[in-house]
Amino acid sequence: MNQNELKKRVGIAATDYIQNGMIVGLGTGSTVYYFVEELGKRVQNGLSIIGVTTSLATKQQAEQLGIPLKSLDDVNSIDLVVDGADEIDPQLNGIKGGGGALLFEKLVATQSKEVIWIVDESKMVDCLGAFPLPVEVVQYGHTHLLRYFEEKGYHPVLRMRDEKVFVTDDGNFIIDLHLKRIDDAVQLQKELNDLVGVVEHGLFLNQTRRVLVGKQNTVEVIEHV
Ligand code: 5RP
Repeated sequence: MNQNELKKRVGIAATDYIQNGMIVGLGTGSTVYYFVEELGKRVQNGLSIIGVTTSLATKQQAEQLGIPLKSLDDVNSIDLVVDGADEIDPQLNGIKGGGGALLFEKLVATQSKEVIWIVDESKMVDCLGAFPLPVEVVQYGHTHLLRYFEEKGYHPVLRMRDEKVFVTDDGNFIIDLHLKRIDDAVQLQKELNDLVGVVEHGLFLNQTRRVLVGKQNTVEVIEHV
């Protein structure tokens, strides 16, 4: 199986956690795409759920499939969110935001009773940081944050797409920090949270207790209770 097939396998497997009547957070990315696709089929076959999306891309996909949606502001809480991740360590801390949806993903996760991450096996790592850490920043004054990160030795790169600066769904820029290795994620989280102009960052610590990993012969369920 190639990576895409593993993503599909785990995306489909995640729909088994969805029960009738649930309010379901719909993450973002190429793995979640398959989850939403399968969920759409189940909705067409009678499953009754309400989705809360984390990006315009997922919203468009869910609408096309006929999945009923509500805004995060129109629900009291979410039963379960299924989302992807860019890296996950053995404590089930992760880096997210490769697709640029980190702010809405964290907002939805924070209001969810349960968070499930779905990944192919390449995302499981011993230590976070090989994947560049996304930091979402307001546009105004972002060059000062770039300079700050440069001086700290964090190797910042302003994210581009199609030769233009990438803009998130909520109108911000993303600075990717090429750290190679994050030895103290809690300290880094605090540093980033304290910076004026940083809207959110891709460190998702203590957010999930259940991860589904698409492997060659199976879907492994990792649970931390
Ligand atoms: C988007 C995300 C994605 O969940 C993450 O980038 C994983 O994406 P993919 O499933 O395409 O590898 O955090 O902001």
